[in-house]
Amino acid sequence: MLKVAIIGLGNRGRKYAHHFHALGAEITAICDINRGMLEYIRAKYSVPADKAFDNEDDFFAAGKLADALVISTQDRDHYRHAMKGMELGYHLLCEKPVSPVLSECEELERVSREKGLKMVVCHVLRYAPYYNKIKEVIDSGAIGEVTAINQTENVGYWHFAHSYVRGNWRREDETGPSILAKCCHDLDLFYYFTGKECTEVFSVGGRRVFLPENRPEGAPERCLNGCPYRVSCPYEVTKLYYRPTLKTIPWLIGHVKVITGKGRPSKKDIVDALKTSPYGRCVYACDNDVMENQTVTCKMGDVNATLTMTAYTARCYRRTHIMGTKGEIIGRDSDGCFKLNVFGERPKKIRVNSGIGHLGGDRGVVRDFMELMETGVVTERLSMMDKTIMSHRMAFAAEESRKSGEAVKL
Ligand SMILES: NC(=O)c1ccc[n+]([C@@H]2O[C@H](COP(=O)([O-])OP(=O)(O)OC[C@H]3O[C@@H](n4cnc5c(N)ncnc54)[C@H](O)[C@@H]3O)[C@@H](O)[C@H]2O)c1
Repeated sequence: MLKVAIIGLGNRGRKYAHHFHALGAEITAICDINRGMLEYIRAKYSVPADKAFDNEDDFFAAGKLADALVISTQDRDHYRHAMKGMELGYHLLCEKPVSPVLSECEELERVSREKGLKMVVCHVLRYAPYYNKIKEVIDSGAIGEVTAINQTENVGYWHFAHSYVRGNWRREDETGPSILAKCCHDLDLFYYFTGKECTEVFSVGGRRVFLPENRPEGAPERCLNGCPYRVSCPYEVTKLYYRPTLKTIPWLIGHVKVITGKGRPSKKDIVDALKTSPYGRCVYACDNDVMENQTVTCKMGDVNATLTMTAYTARCYRRTHIMGTKGEIIGRDSDGCFKLNVFGERPKKIRVNSGIGHLGGDRGVVRDFMELMETGVVTERLSMMDKTIMSHRMAFAAEESRKSGEAVKL
């Protein structure tokens, strides 16, 4: 039975704990600075009390406690935790982005290669049945040679407000630019679909909505401090966190754990969090600086690929249009199907059984990682560290281009 240790038991770490446990792995050690969450996960998966660590120093000092280490801490902690993990001989499943510093990504790739340790990165879209099917259709030659890709990442106004205005990924200096944090796995899809390396990147981006100058007169610092705009403002926190329903904003239902930091939050915990945590702030009175919309054009050999990431959409989904010499693929991942138009033939609707959690990608990456650990076979789908570097280079180049106004050659 595969033994795994997990560092970082937040929103992502909890999902990985669930999937590893459900797929038959044993969680032998955990580490998180949030003691309440540590105990919640320890009890849930019967981790021995002396293998539940509330600080990284004790965790790493305890030596190698599993075959593999899952790194699901924040972006700027991955490098440190990955290096310490590899010193102990852990194989790694590391959250994306690997690091907001390119030289750190490159060093991790080198060290994992030199030590012969497996390092897989959670580019979870690769493992979602929807994207697997698209890849299968491309590889079958049904649309001929791919010539161009247009991908739109519709983040959703409520998701953007939660994560990129009020939450963890709002500031470039704390995590990284939004094109890296949010979109490295979209850029990875360009590489995965075409099998071609990126040679040139151009990007533009901007911020239009979540700015102090858009704060309505008289709006307080926090929504719960008697905001006169509470009925009309779509970002008002009770709409997002008290009353999300499966019909409106299903994603935020799970995020009350995130805003409270508690495994089983009560209504009072949620209200307290909105009175004191960053998640209760007026969206126009935050310290955010990451881009709200950004377009990246990439030359992937002879394929032109464009990604637009935008906050300004009602729902959260990705739209993909892949053009080939003999046909095209058009789809929205949230529909669970896409259209295959082969020129001169009747259009076909291709249905896919998507799961939950990045359309099944969260479970998929865990399943593939476990298979890798068991068999040692590196399939094309696996986002090993050496393949992952490309998406990160593209994101760093996009930022460089956005700031300089010049195209960047890779
Ligand atoms: N693959 C994806 O699609 C995807 C989606 C969302 C987030 N992410 C990435 O996953 C990572 C985790 O995101 P999240 O949403 O779970 O964040 P989170 O803030 O909910 O979780 C981070 C956890 O790490 C803990 N922690 C912080 N410092 C620590 C330390 N020094 N030692 C041990 N634990 C520590 C925190 O207490 C928290 O529980 C981030 O890098 C994020 O960018 C990836």
